Amino acid sequence: CGIVGYIGKRDVAPLLLEGLQRLEYRGYDSAGIVVTSPKASGLKMVKAKGRVRDLEARVPKRFAGTTGIAHTRWATHGAPSDENAHPHLDAEGRVAVVHNGIIDNATELRAKLVADGVEFLSETDTEVLVHLVARSQAVTLEEKVREALRHVEGTYGIAVMHADFSDRIVVARNGSPVVLGIGEKEMFVASDIAALVSHTRQIVTLEDGEMATLKADDFRTYTTEGSRTTATPTTVEWEAESYDMGGHDTYMHKEISEQADAVDRVLRGRIDDRFSTVHLGGLNLDAREARGIRRVKILGCGTSYHAGMIGAQLIEELARIPADAEPASEFRYRNPVVDPDTLYVAVSQSGETYDVLAAVQELKRKGARVLGVVNVVGSAIAREADGGMYVHAGPEVCVVSTKCFTNTVVAFALLALHLGRIRDLSVADGKRLIAGLRKLPAQIAAILETEDEIKKIAEEYAGAQSMMFIGRVRGYPVALEASLKLKEISYIHAEAYPASELKHGPLALIEPALPTVAIVPDDDLLDKNRAALEEIKARSGRILAVAHREQEKADHTIVVPKNETELDPILMGIPLQLLAYHTALAMGRDIDKPRNLAKSVTVE
Ligand code: G6P
Repeated sequence: CGIVGYIGKRDVAPLLLEGLQRLEYRGYDSAGIVVTSPKASGLKMVKAKGRVRDLEARVPKRFAGTTGIAHTRWATHGAPSDENAHPHLDAEGRVAVVHNGIIDNATELRAKLVADGVEFLSETDTEVLVHLVARSQAVTLEEKVREALRHVEGTYGIAVMHADFSDRIVVARNGSPVVLGIGEKEMFVASDIAALVSHTRQIVTLEDGEMATLKADDFRTYTTEGSRTTATPTTVEWEAESYDMGGHDTYMHKEISEQADAVDRVLRGRIDDRFSTVHLGGLNLDAREARGIRRVKILGCGTSYHAGMIGAQLIEELARIPADAEPASEFRYRNPVVDPDTLYVAVSQSGETYDVLAAVQELKRKGARVLGVVNVVGSAIAREADGGMYVHAGPEVCVVSTKCFTNTVVAFALLALHLGRIRDLSVADGKRLIAGLRKLPAQIAAILETEDEIKKIAEEYAGAQSMMFIGRVRGYPVALEASLKLKEISYIHAEAYPASELKHGPLALIEPALPTVAIVPDDDLLDKNRAALEEIKARSGRILAVAHREQEKADHTIVVPKNETELDPILMGIPLQLLAYHTALAMGRDIDKPRNLAKSVTVE
């Protein structure tokens, strides 16, 4: 979900609607806005099920105000509807709240309020907060909010307006991001800097347990207990333009196209030719500590989990440390053994996926050392980790991840090389891999040039009901990620299997109507992969191979440039991003905002 708010002199509705557009990738099943001004006697609100443009169509011409808050939602409690959209108001329409997160004890609080005669207008957990604020007898708005929050268990990023205190917006954070944007005689608040960067680059990120009061010409921060905190604005580096589509029809296409530059950025300044290694200053892990690591455990969700799987293989191959990846969500619920000799690595594009953050917090509570491999600088996971590396992919707006996946895998290659070179990876291997890493941007650019060819293939497969993706060892996570990409944006059912497991079950599915995408690198498993293609062909299955040379048994082969064997998976995934993209495009899907999904899942 996304929150944006403004207080100043400008006409607030267009500003907030623009902010919501920029946040829409965080949730898009309903949206709403509430505004007021110092002279107005109350709050004005409009909400709509659907996209921000549906809300925009409903906002009346005369909707003047200079203070306001707005929200775009990804439903958790209560189906998408006008009523369940935020902001929520109390019965008198004097208090308005927008909220990200989940109030765990909402049912209990609701029952108590109902018993006291409060009438609820929505099914959301958020509405309890509105009534708690409205019923508070405290004198100031800050105290009312504080008192309400005292009853609440769960996570929140909230912004509150009150008709009797129209000179301010009060915000609070616990587990769900809130950033303040500091302007000249105007203040902004949002759940994500994406909504702020076109107005100001002076940012204050609230900590958990912190609140803030925004007035047009002033802001102050304090804890939920009321003691003042110091907040010095920092300047964000990301340009407002990096959030624009820059001539592409979708963010996904833009982000796929940016990958050569993005990979260049993750490598920049990190390679040390003298010792054939890489420097990763932010790890906070000295050579002696690194040599003491007995295992590496990588945790992430969705695409980041897949990047972590490739990362685990790289670490095991190059640093010879046993490594594996696991979905963060599973890990935290199975009371895992937390081992002091294990290095834990949390992977997250956004740095705020709740399941990953909660796993990090649990690990830290048990004394583990946790590194973050994160894209968003200063995000919750980056701050919570003991050290780590930023992947420098730049802002990623499309709900499904592409360039950040690629950069994360490259970041893992750097980590693996770094760990390898202080353990027993040779100088020669170090040199070989560095040369391979340096080749990546040009090779990515070459793959992207074959887009027209991939588009044609995609159009052929666009009618399929279901697709199979297979790969072996290094190719298996590539297959998993490619199948995830396809199902996320085209809604074609897709499965990924290790090619070696085909004959233990899924071969039963093979028939002309079920195409298979096979990852077939020129590595020591080439013959085995070819045998799998034979097995499929013998059952009249159609095959699309991604390979380093034409595959005879395949109906189509997408040939990708060869790199060092260990780095091949980085390149083999890229044409399959384009395959998913063009399949979805041919099917008329809403590529940047696939149904039911959100970019960052900040709830459980
Ligand atoms: C959501 C997104 C996925 C993403 C996952 C993890 O489910 O829809 O595309 O891979 O979250 O996100 P993260 O920001 O932690 O990498």
